[in-house]
Amino acid sequence: MKKIQMVDLKGQYAKIKEEVNASILNVLDSTAYINGPEVKGFQSELETYLDVKHVIPCANGTDALQIAMMGLGLKPGDEVITADFTFAATVEVIALLNLTPVLVDVNPDDFNIDIAAIEKAITPKTKAIVPVHLFGQCANMDEIMKLAEKHNLFVIEDNAQAIGADYTSADGTTKKAGTIGHVASTSFFPSKNLGCYGDGGAIFTNDDELAHTIRGIVNHGMYKRYHHDVVGVNSRLDSIQAAVLRAKLKNLGKYNSARQLAASKYDKAFSAIDCITTPVRSGDHVFHQYTLKVNGVDRDALAQFLNENEIPCGVYYPIPLHSQKAYVDARYNEEDFPVTNQLIKEVISLPMHTELDDEQIEFITSKVIEFVRK
Ligand SMILES: Cc1ncc(COP(=O)(O)O)c(C=O)c1O
Repeated sequence: MKKIQMVDLKGQYAKIKEEVNASILNVLDSTAYINGPEVKGFQSELETYLDVKHVIPCANGTDALQIAMMGLGLKPGDEVITADFTFAATVEVIALLNLTPVLVDVNPDDFNIDIAAIEKAITPKTKAIVPVHLFGQCANMDEIMKLAEKHNLFVIEDNAQAIGADYTSADGTTKKAGTIGHVASTSFFPSKNLGCYGDGGAIFTNDDELAHTIRGIVNHGMYKRYHHDVVGVNSRLDSIQAAVLRAKLKNLGKYNSARQLAASKYDKAFSAIDCITTPVRSGDHVFHQYTLKVNGVDRDALAQFLNENEIPCGVYYPIPLHSQKAYVDARYNEEDFPVTNQLIKEVISLPMHTELDDEQIEFITSKVIEFVRK
């Protein structure tokens, strides 16, 4: 059996090696290392894939979030509501910009931001909602957009984990994750569904004016060379990463299908195991992570047992954001986070990537089942 990886980047690279190597060499020969034709090509191919008017590439997914918030003109003291159960980048940029993070609880089934909790948290100072499409599926965008309209709020989709997922609204229309709110961010960190071979990110929007503002912000606030109209940042996707991403974007549909196939095999193996809850699909799910909930099982002992059997696994996320030292705040009450406080004890993510084979899935599932039946 091939060694099991949490994410098998080597196996994936082997299949596109010739194309990727040739396009990287092309960039080297061209010397157009920054903002070269590869970046423009990738930008326009991603716009087509997502069916969005503007993709603005940048240096990473954290910058993408920060720049989106700067582009919207959010000001110190503005309240921004986001999920308590997610990666810290989301709340980090809110705090960095001196905005006020307002963390709220998530759903117990799909782990996405809880609509009732958002509604409860809205105050006259609230300016934006940042739903994170966690583990590969969209938050309830219909309800979030309704709330945003009612209270005149911006919606910034953190789409670092769900690129390529479809979201179907109650009226039957389907859009790609990250093209529904006012603006969205994504990450091309290597392990992401669309990952490059270093750091990378992008911002998406259908709003022409916002896109123009953001294009200046990513480039030192310049709209005309050496004319700095607003305070900006230096956040660029480099041409080598864009070349890698162009090769991988062509395969994104195939990659997401491979993840979905692996997820359905995991689901089937665990279907009769009462103490395991497999991921709930509230819509299309592109399985950035395959995350189980275990009930009445020592989750940390399970993780240790899997590691002893050379099965990597992860706990995403072990600490709620409201309890992280950097973000603790007297405003938060433990009673407001019952779901997150429970999830951090119960979740465990299994290897999930495009190269998992049947033998590996069989081994992983048999070891999980062996442990929970002990
Ligand atoms: C939900 C979420 N938001 C933001 C980020 C930040 O992306 P990056 O690592 O590219 O800065 C990540 C990546 O890990 C993420 O998972």
